[in-house]
Amino acid sequence: MRPRCAVAEGAYVADNLAFMARLPDGVCDLIYADPPFDLRQGDLAAFLAFLRPRLVQMHRLLAAHGSLYVHVDWRSAHYVKVMLDEVFRPEHFLNEIIWHYRSGSRPGRWFARKHDNILVYARHLGRHTFNRLRGGDYRTRDLRVGSDGRPFKSTRNGPLYFHPQGPALPDVWDVPFLSTVSRERTGYAQQKPEALLERVIRASSNEGDLVADFFCGSGTTLAVAQRLGRGCLGCDISPRAVGIARRRLAALGVS
Ligand SMILES: C[S@@+](CC[C@H](N)C(=O)[O-])C[C@H]1O[C@@H](n2cnc3c(N)ncnc32)[C@H](O)[C@@H]1O
Repeated sequence: MRPRCAVAEGAYVADNLAFMARLPDGVCDLIYADPPFDLRQGDLAAFLAFLRPRLVQMHRLLAAHGSLYVHVDWRSAHYVKVMLDEVFRPEHFLNEIIWHYRSGSRPGRWFARKHDNILVYARHLGRHTFNRLRGGDYRTRDLRVGSDGRPFKSTRNGPLYFHPQGPALPDVWDVPFLSTVSRERTGYAQQKPEALLERVIRASSNEGDLVADFFCGSGTTLAVAQRLGRGCLGCDISPRAVGIARRRLAALGVS
């Protein structure tokens, strides 16, 4: 059973290090962390020093079946991977998800940088929650659909059946960036698309689980968790961000 949480679900204004320190061990089933972009772009050593104690807290807060997703980019991904290996141990590393998008500039002096890196660790490999997600098209041509709705291909040895919901998702995710006119936009500059968090939450939690985001920004993780029947807990140091997150949750019926 999950330990009782010291604070009620919802979004709070707080420095996440102090906020997490007040929570009991093992209280979170899933944590998504999207640390601030300006820090990531600035002094790398300062960013890593800021991140380490927070990753240690997140490790402590995860239930035995829990997972952590850390969203970084090409500037820091390799350093953060080494740090996470130290905190979680390398054998609990599950995936490096490449979030591929198309928006932004296309410089002429190197290949256009069109992905972020999301590092995924299990608290305990093998005990972790993982729901296989499916989608997209099979590469195989000449697929036919049987009377039971299952796609199949005829082979010399008889029909070869495929899953009707498409292939299992790989670790490269094509999810569009939020467009400037998206109805999802809250006005928060670093807001991530709900479709991205939907994959994270569906894959690594179940209904009734507690999903946490201690860099919650505009509350994308919290809103998606709530919509998918999970509990949600988050904080952000910015009162403006938490105001937006709370309005999003209120629109879903959470106070
Ligand atoms: C990249 S944004 C998160 C965006 C979020 N995923 C969304 O979809 O809106 C990083 C957030 O970390 C917050 N932050 C920075 N330092 C923090 C700290 N010490 N404690 C809590 N939040 C912090 C920033 O205010 C910012 O909102």
